[in-house]
Amino acid sequence: MKNVSFQSKNVAGYVSSQELKSVFSVIKLIHEALIKKECPGNDSIGWLNVDSTINKELVKDIDETAKDIRKNCDVFLSLGIGGSYLGAKAAVEFLKPNFFNEFKNERPKIYFAGQNLSADYLSDLLKLIRGRRIIVNVISKSGTTTETAATFRVIKKYLETLYGKKKVKDKIICTTDKREGALRRMAKEQGYKSFPIPDDIGGRFSVLTAVGLLPIACAGIDIKGLLEGAADFEKKCNILNLEQNPAYKYAAIRHVLRTKGKTIEILSCLQPSLRYVAEWWKQLFGESEGKKGKGIFPVSCEFSTDLHSLGQMIQEGRRNLFETFLIVDNLNAKISIPRDKANLDGLNYLAGRDIEYINNTAYQASASAHYEGGVPNMTVSIPKRTPRYLGQLFYFFEKTTAISGLLLGVNPFDQPGVEAYKKKMFKLLGKPKK
Ligand code: PA5
Repeated sequence: MKNVSFQSKNVAGYVSSQELKSVFSVIKLIHEALIKKECPGNDSIGWLNVDSTINKELVKDIDETAKDIRKNCDVFLSLGIGGSYLGAKAAVEFLKPNFFNEFKNERPKIYFAGQNLSADYLSDLLKLIRGRRIIVNVISKSGTTTETAATFRVIKKYLETLYGKKKVKDKIICTTDKREGALRRMAKEQGYKSFPIPDDIGGRFSVLTAVGLLPIACAGIDIKGLLEGAADFEKKCNILNLEQNPAYKYAAIRHVLRTKGKTIEILSCLQPSLRYVAEWWKQLFGESEGKKGKGIFPVSCEFSTDLHSLGQMIQEGRRNLFETFLIVDNLNAKISIPRDKANLDGLNYLAGRDIEYINNTAYQASASAHYEGGVPNMTVSIPKRTPRYLGQLFYFFEKTTAISGLLLGVNPFDQPGVEAYKKKMFKLLGKPKK
């Protein structure tokens, strides 16, 4: 059976086997520390063990809830930000067809809000969902995140005006901390259905809990497949061998490249359906590594679109970059270039060629050109757009993040820096002190 795979031939000359060996000796210690739960942030590593993340009853409850929503609702509105948003958005965008919300028979439409503070976004959304049968899933571990809470208030009021207070109760599902927080209190007092977020799993590692799984299941995606894929990679990414463990290899190479001044990593995707996987990846690595003046700055590109914009910078700009290509080996569709008698555009040399063949050639050409231009690169290949492979990918990146952060000597599971803007914003807004 094929799996998500990792290859790194285009780092030759930048990373030696001796350097990798030396980093691996530290990874071995981290490996042990993770097992013994003796690493920084060890109270937030519940996601490491996929089976302990979520039990069978909870998966069943999520599946049944989603089935009911798919039958009876026109709109599923997911409210959340950061880790309470990006994983679900990534899965839905990657696994559903492009433009799926535009399809006439697609039900429910899946919309996301609470990930920004834009009045226009919210107002346009309210206009869009007016008169439709709506279910709202408000997701926040802390229960106090301003973007999510403010959006939830507006949406709740809107629903109450439309349907009356009593009926709104059945249109709201909360995903939040088991015991604490404003959202948990609200769920209890108002009698909303709720799903718990495990204590030992932080936001950006929570896609395989109810946080991600309910919205994903509501989109009609097989969440068991996702979990099985993650479990496959739990085994693979726990092998204490650099060549057999893609997460350890990826983390080790990133670490060596960083020490050589390659402080920006570009995730270059070749499919628009991967756009939000890249957004999820950026949050995962950025929020986990960027501490104590350290870390690799994660950015993303969408090729071949960005080869006509940022491509110039990648090829010839400052040489502080490395790149990880994220490709899909087998696409669902086959579309070939038609032959044209007149051949005015000169494209007949490609007649009969599949569009994906050309896309893959663009990948190979850019990987090689960027390498020759001083941008070492690696490739992560996803065999197909399926839940199982996405589960593998999620776990692979999560494990790499943990190892990378611990190699840097930071706690990869907290985000103290996020508080700085919040403090200033609350002061400016006049938030009362507790
Ligand atoms: O990774 C994290 O913990 C954060 O990005 C959170 O997911 C984000 O800030 C949202 O937090 P909450 O779920 O508490 O609303």
